[in-house]
Amino acid sequence: MSNRFHFRVSRRDALSFGLAAGAGTALSMRRPVWAATTAPTQLPLITKAIPATGEKLPAVGLGTDQFRTSERDAIQAEIQRLQQLGGTVIDTAAAYGDSESLIGDALAALNIRDRMFIATKLAANEAGPSGRGGKESFDRSLARLKTQTIDLLQVHNLEGVEVLMPLLQQWKQAGKIRYIGITTSRVGQHNHMVEYMREYPLDFVQVDYSLANRDAAMNVLPLASERRVAVLANVPFGFGSVLRQAQTRQLPDWAADIDVTSWGQFLLKYVISHPAVTCAIPGSTKVAHLEDNQHAARGRLPDESMRRKMEQFWDAG
Ligand SMILES: NC(=O)c1ccc[n+]([C@@H]2O[C@H](COP(=O)([O-])OP(=O)(O)OC[C@H]3O[C@@H](n4cnc5c(N)ncnc54)[C@H](OP(=O)(O)O)[C@@H]3O)[C@@H](O)[C@H]2O)c1
Repeated sequence: MSNRFHFRVSRRDALSFGLAAGAGTALSMRRPVWAATTAPTQLPLITKAIPATGEKLPAVGLGTDQFRTSERDAIQAEIQRLQQLGGTVIDTAAAYGDSESLIGDALAALNIRDRMFIATKLAANEAGPSGRGGKESFDRSLARLKTQTIDLLQVHNLEGVEVLMPLLQQWKQAGKIRYIGITTSRVGQHNHMVEYMREYPLDFVQVDYSLANRDAAMNVLPLASERRVAVLANVPFGFGSVLRQAQTRQLPDWAADIDVTSWGQFLLKYVISHPAVTCAIPGSTKVAHLEDNQHAARGRLPDESMRRKMEQFWDAG
């Protein structure tokens, strides 16, 4: 399955991406460094391997917590843009209102289900002592997403892990899901997550990690490297508040050294340059934001010394 994703981008896409990118950089009040020289889609796409299989994923995906039916057309346009720009990973959940249905409709209308990597989550609290609610949640997700197979099925917020894990393993063996994961977005759950990582054969964890919230780097991320577990990094913008805080400051000139032209890209490049992180999943409901975020999946990644510089710059703010 590792070569089923196609990252072809047409010249028209590349040109329109270049124009849109110019708009995105208004966030940082800076001119895009590559505007006159390198079209962004000519910069190499950054991919990371899923340790369990070696399958490569583009390092920036899309979070869909805020998808609403009232924005159906915008959502389809956003998913189409993601695919055109080389992104594949879409993270949703049974608990995210209409998100799964909107994604399923868009993938069907665009006929791109096979090109995308779909991650969803079982409804928290629904498992019940027998796990029957977990099966109902999974069946509903398959129907809403209009698919026979989920790439990554996760236990939401660590709720019901013990009950759901045998079911997840059965579904994986039956080929209904490709990878198994667990999620949190709260530092207070990290120790608990670490215990589950030691106990169960997980392919993925999903955890909160950002330049302003580095707790996961203390325990979850090192253990993920050690146990060869892939990592989706959620809330990379601190639910938007970290980005808003960042935007009150001038982006440093040296951000150009890692092909960064906006604060969104700065924050994402920090997250995806952690060796344990496989893919960051910033949430966005606007195409311009998605395009800005997809820039972070291209070009140079910060090395260790650049990562320290980014931390010091952030901490001094
Ligand atoms: N427990 C869990 O499993 C869990 C918990 C939380 C989140 N998640 C997952 O992680 C994803 C990300 O979290 P999140 O969406 O809550 O928070 P986030 O990614 O930290 O921030 C999202 C916010 O940033 C804004 N934004 C995105 N890109 C931007 C850009 N380039 N410029 C300016 N603003 C930008 C979005 O605005 P617009 O909407 O206007 O574009 C939105 O308000 C979720 O969608 C979900 O898939 C999982």
